[in-house]
Amino acid sequence: MSAQGQSPTGLEAVGSVAVHTFAAHQSIQSTPTAHQSMDGHHVNAMAGDRGGVDPARLADYEDVPDGHFYDPDAEYEPDPEYAATLAPDAARQRRERIGPTGRPLPYFPIPGPLTDHGPAKIIAMCNQKGGVGKTTSTINLGAALAEYGRRVLLVDFDPQGALSVGLGVNPMELDLTVYNLLMERGMSADEVLLKTAVPNMDLLPSNIDLSAAEVQLVSEVARESTLQRALKPLLADYDYIVIDCQPSLGLLTVNALTAAHKVIVPLECEFFALRGVALLTETIEKVQERLNPDLELDGILATMYDSRTVHSREVLARVVEAFDDHVYHTVIGRTVRFPETTVAGEPITTYASNSVGAAAYRQLAREVLARCHAE
Ligand SMILES: Nc1ncnc2c1ncn2[C@@H]1O[C@H](COP(=O)(O)OP(=O)(O)OP(=O)(O)O)[C@@H](O)[C@H]1O
Ligand SMILES: [Mg+2]
Repeated sequence: MSAQGQSPTGLEAVGSVAVHTFAAHQSIQSTPTAHQSMDGHHVNAMAGDRGGVDPARLADYEDVPDGHFYDPDAEYEPDPEYAATLAPDAARQRRERIGPTGRPLPYFPIPGPLTDHGPAKIIAMCNQKGGVGKTTSTINLGAALAEYGRRVLLVDFDPQGALSVGLGVNPMELDLTVYNLLMERGMSADEVLLKTAVPNMDLLPSNIDLSAAEVQLVSEVARESTLQRALKPLLADYDYIVIDCQPSLGLLTVNALTAAHKVIVPLECEFFALRGVALLTETIEKVQERLNPDLELDGILATMYDSRTVHSREVLARVVEAFDDHVYHTVIGRTVRFPETTVAGEPITTYASNSVGAAAYRQLAREVLARCHAE
């Protein structure tokens, strides 16, 4: 180690970074400082002990007040003051159980068993923006509700058939799908229904045939309520029917909204999350006024949240600002486990039962049930 840059305190400046010389390390070990942890490791050498070093050589750290930890990530944070408001102090978080949405986290009890079933509440999973987690949320909310003993029917209402694929069904091999149920009079749901590997959970699958329905329905009488009529005979058999919508606000989505009692809007925690949400809420209001007065926005579900990034936290804060109590307390984190489950063709609750992702969707199921019981 060169003697150049050696200071009386034993700090040596290398470029703009201060490091300890061996001699200084020895002396620190005998006299612990405020910046040294009990196991003898010197923490935060850069910010705390720069006193004797030529300040010009440490210009990068000039803004760090004495005694504060230098956080290399802080440079990338757009507004540290604002960031601090988004991450309340840990002690308060523990004491008041502040959740990721910045509100105190209520306790959602584990739901008790049901003695009888139905009539079903119909939930439309809807956002015209693509790739926000509609299909993932449909599969995993459904599976979590089924785990809690609810009878669940999932409706694949996207011609891409992603929901069917996510449950291990190959849409190309299907003869009968939700399309037949919609378009052919006299077709019974039992002919189309598939049992899934999850007990208590069934599927109305779809494939590319459904894209024709969008065109064919245009000339139908009461075209917006076709799905509602098709689901009616099934209501008594299920507790929850969850419809996975396609990423558009076309006639299929309007059918889903007309059939539904509640809408869940998944929002990915990224910059353009709120773009288009005004159009979606406008569509929901129009359907409410003209077609389905019972329809309600149950909640906004923040998905793909990464608590380590200020960006995610900022977006979530904006979403809470805009929608307030409509935002679910449950937030779904970003994890590679979800794409893996699609490949495996099963919900995360069975594929990785003990994972954080599975826990998140179980918590969402409890929150959804709590909201339903509160009515
Ligand atoms: N919480 C998450 N963390 C990481 N990846 C996720 C998460 N949720 C979903 N994904 C992945 O993001 C992609 C899009 O998710 P998904 O298919 O559920 O969205 P979608 O809204 O249904 O999309 P589309 O509009 O195309 O139907 C998928 O590859 C999925 O595995
Ligand atoms: Mg989808």
